[in-house]
Amino acid sequence: MSVPGRPDGGRFGAAPGGAAATPLPLLDVRNLETWYGPVVAMQGINLQVPRGRVVAVLGANGAGKSTLLNTLAGVIDPFKGSVWFEGERIDGLDADAVCRRGLVLVPEGRQVYPFLSARDNLAMGAYARRRDADRVRDDLARVFGWFPRLLEREAQPAGLLSGGEQQMLAIGRAWMSAPRLLLLDEPSLGLSPLLTHEIFGIVGRIAREAGVAVLVVEQNAAVALRTADEGYVMELGRIVAAGTSEALSAKSDVRESYLGLRAAQGLSGQQRWRRRKTWR
Ligand SMILES: Nc1ncnc2c1ncn2[C@@H]1O[C@H](COP(=O)(O)OP(=O)(O)OP(=O)(O)O)[C@@H](O)[C@H]1O
Ligand SMILES: [Mg+2]
Repeated sequence: MSVPGRPDGGRFGAAPGGAAATPLPLLDVRNLETWYGPVVAMQGINLQVPRGRVVAVLGANGAGKSTLLNTLAGVIDPFKGSVWFEGERIDGLDADAVCRRGLVLVPEGRQVYPFLSARDNLAMGAYARRRDADRVRDDLARVFGWFPRLLEREAQPAGLLSGGEQQMLAIGRAWMSAPRLLLLDEPSLGLSPLLTHEIFGIVGRIAREAGVAVLVVEQNAAVALRTADEGYVMELGRIVAAGTSEALSAKSDVRESYLGLRAAQGLSGQQRWRRRKTWR
């Protein structure tokens, strides 16, 4: 829960050793609420992303994860609450303005331009940076360094790339917009475990090597928590758990519901029996 007056919103308890307040988070979401017509899709959302970190949002189908990212990206207007980015309020801005500030969304299902070549898709990401040619060239080299397969297929229409290559392209295109925070909506959707591993490897490098923060929505909790520093769990439009990836991975309900691991170890005999009976 957000604590007014605390720059970290009271994130995950007090700073260790009574240290001074932690620095202002890159993204600070306060009490955000979004409706679709008469239906509330998400409410009471408090969430922070520190600079240069990977933060995961976990949750089942329909939990409100895409609604959250789309609201942050300015695709949907929130009904209530506020979004602060680098200390400035950005809720209510349209999607273009949010993108120019550096919050760049890679939407669910990639949405690359199918008839444009891979290289032209990347160029589209940089369309607002025409006067920044040197850096655009460096960024393009970086994308091809992360995803050598895109370089091999740069002249192909994006619609003919594999699902994994399209995901790489979508992340690459977002990178070409010079993000300060990447919003990734289910990058592993439809990908093999190997490709998922590869994509999340790059997600980690984006944060650790390039210092750009990532807020990643995922159903594959195991993969997401291995890469992320921190995570939130959403259920029915609300955040029901939050903490470091380590702490979340150790929580018994997260282990059972999202990591598919039994939590029976350490339970007393009777509890174990009850638990088994419930499963049947
Ligand atoms: N455009 C829309 N109009 C009406 N209801 C919507 C719309 N988009 C989503 N919803 C509803 O809002 C809720 C949250 O949906 P959302 O797409 O945010 O979930 P999600 O966590 O991203 O799910 P998934 O893992 O399946 O992508 C769901 O109940 C969904 O049916
Ligand atoms: Mg979704």
